[in-house]
Amino acid sequence: MTTKAKNEILTRTGAGTPMGELMRQYWMPAAKSDELTADGDPVRLKLLGEKLIAFRDSSGRVGIMDHRCPHRCASLFFGRNEEDGIRCVYHGWKFDVEGNCLDMANVPPHQDFKHKVKAKAYKSAERNGVVWVFMGDQDSVPELPMVESTLVPEEQLEIRFTMRECNWLQGVEGELDTSHVGIMHFGSVGTEVFDDDDYQRHVVANRAPEYKLQETDYGYMYAGYRPGDAGEVYYRFGQFLFPFWTMPPINTIETNVLTRAYVPIDDENMMIVSLVKDGAYVNGANAAARGVVGGTQNYPYLPNSTDWLGRWRLKLNRDNDYGIDREVQRTESYTGIEGVQMQDQAVQESMGTVLDRSLEHLAPSDQMITTVRRMLIRAAGDLEKSGAVPKSATDHTLYDRVRGGHFSAGEAQDWLQAYGERVALHPWEQVMPQAAE
Ligand code: FES
Ligand SMILES: [Fe+2]
Repeated sequence: MTTKAKNEILTRTGAGTPMGELMRQYWMPAAKSDELTADGDPVRLKLLGEKLIAFRDSSGRVGIMDHRCPHRCASLFFGRNEEDGIRCVYHGWKFDVEGNCLDMANVPPHQDFKHKVKAKAYKSAERNGVVWVFMGDQDSVPELPMVESTLVPEEQLEIRFTMRECNWLQGVEGELDTSHVGIMHFGSVGTEVFDDDDYQRHVVANRAPEYKLQETDYGYMYAGYRPGDAGEVYYRFGQFLFPFWTMPPINTIETNVLTRAYVPIDDENMMIVSLVKDGAYVNGANAAARGVVGGTQNYPYLPNSTDWLGRWRLKLNRDNDYGIDREVQRTESYTGIEGVQMQDQAVQESMGTVLDRSLEHLAPSDQMITTVRRMLIRAAGDLEKSGAVPKSATDHTLYDRVRGGHFSAGEAQDWLQAYGERVALHPWEQVMPQAAE
């Protein structure tokens, strides 16, 4: 059982909390590159409970810093983004993307002390359409992780940010919970909607899979498995990668270049960063294409506002019960809610903004969830006690050549050997030009 005390460790991510400090050992996707334009409006950005602003300067560099001006703490959101820096409108102090003070407009030249003042800026980076931030020790910054989908060229990448109004771990745990797929998302159909050569039909032929788990250097891997065609086992492999990445088995393993990060905005809201290589949804993920009512991947957004919690919100949300149509639920779909991710959004937000895990009654189907909880608590505790960090915090290559996905293999074959063979077949160099040998 996850006690209230353990739940606190898992869910709190502010500065100084065990999990918050663990998260700060890693680069985090923060915004889409096209949210920031040179000399454009500063954007309010909240991450790990910290209120930040992001801006792109005249030269195209990205700055991410505490929104409070170091002079008298007026918000730099109201600042003027001009001539390679952001200038606070209160007294005209100006800062570059690294937080250096360039000018003190209200201080006479002979009293100027700008070289002694620095805004609290965090290192940022950009890769393939995504802006990243590192909020840990600014003197010890690792390289960006080699998560496969983050290495896909931007023109081949579908980048979606979506806000979900609950704690980050509810999002992660939804991805480590493969048994819900055959029920919540595919509960209204049987094998008749699948082509004969589509292994995913086993998800509805048997809705109660069993599990195999393996700890790895990047986190944890698991496979939900059930009987496949004669002499075969049908596997759905998924990964948890430190500190909040998942690779759910949405497609066949050959095409599943797909990652989702569940980035804490604060402890009651997360930003889902979904990175999908072109076509990944076409090759098997789109339940709607099989005639599963409600199985689309489309979900409309509200216009972004400038609020801390105003980016990438959905039109269907808890205020309108996610558009649930009870007649459709009775007659055509399992949930009556349109959109696979909307269904996930509804159930995860319905657990409460921070799920009280002491109330749960967990089943064998939850073993990946409980295992990852234990691993996270252990990693956060090790960091707190001795300063030790997981290997993945300092070695970005541990994320290389990891992929989730589903496939069938012979009954006699070991599950990890079967996975290794499938992974070795990938044309990685086409997906990840930077990783080509
Ligand atoms: S508060 Fe920003 S310059 Fe004074
Ligand atoms: Fe789901």
